[in-house]
Amino acid sequence: MDLKDKKIGIALTGSFCTYEKVFIELQKLADARAEVYPILSDASRTITSRFGSPEQYIEKIRELTGKDPITCIEGAEPIGPKGFLDILVILPCTGNTAAKLANGITDTPVLMAAKAHLRNNKPLVISISTNDGLGMNLKNIGLLCNSKNIYFVPFGQDNYEKKPNSLVAHTALLIPTLEMALEHRQYQPILKDYERL
Ligand SMILES: Cc1cc2nc3c(=O)[nH]c(=O)nc-3n(C[C@H](O)[C@H](O)[C@H](O)COP(=O)(O)O)c2cc1C
Repeated sequence: MDLKDKKIGIALTGSFCTYEKVFIELQKLADARAEVYPILSDASRTITSRFGSPEQYIEKIRELTGKDPITCIEGAEPIGPKGFLDILVILPCTGNTAAKLANGITDTPVLMAAKAHLRNNKPLVISISTNDGLGMNLKNIGLLCNSKNIYFVPFGQDNYEKKPNSLVAHTALLIPTLEMALEHRQYQPILKDYERL
C-alpha cells in the first residue's frame, strides 16, 4: 500500500540508543510523502543522556516531519474523537511502555495516543526495544501480540551473549510492516535473527 498522504503517528519512548535508527525511518517516510505526527513520552521529552538531549531530538523531529511533537496527554487525547491518524507506531517502544499498554495504563502522551487510536479500531504498530524482552516483559509482549489491531515490527535478540533477555525490532522493516498493518495484516516472519555480533 502506498504511504503517500497517509497520516502516521510516530510515538517515541525512552529507548534513546534507537533514535538514530528512528530518524532514518522518519526520512524514509518523508521521502514517501507520508504525513507524520510525532508524539513524545515524558521520558523522551525530559531525559538527557549520552545519546543526546530532548532539545536535539525535537529539533531533528521538526526538521524531518515539519511538525511540533505532541508532548502532553491533553495534546494526544484528540486522536480518539477526531480519528485523524490512519496508523500509529510506537517507535521505539520501551519495556515500560509495553508493560503499561498491555495492562491498560494511560499515563504518558504516547499511551494516551495509543488508547485514543485503538478506540477507533485502527492499526497500532509496536517497534520493541528492551533489555527485558525475554525477561519480565515477555508476558506483556505476548499479551500485545495477541491483541486486536496490534502489529509488531519484526524483532529478534540483538546481542544474546551480552544481553540474553534483550529484544530489538528491525526498524529498517518499518515501512513494509506499516503497509501490511494498514491492511490489518502482520508482516512475517515476526521473529527475525540478528547477525551474530
Ligand atoms: C540512556 C538510557 C537508555 C535507555 N534505553 C532503554 C531501552 O533501550 N529500552 C527500554 O525499555 N528502556 C530504556 N531506558 C529506560 C526508559 O527510558 C525508562 O524505563 C523510562 O521510564 C521509559 O519511559 P517511557 O516508556 O514512557 O518512554 C533507557 C534509559 C536511559 C536513561
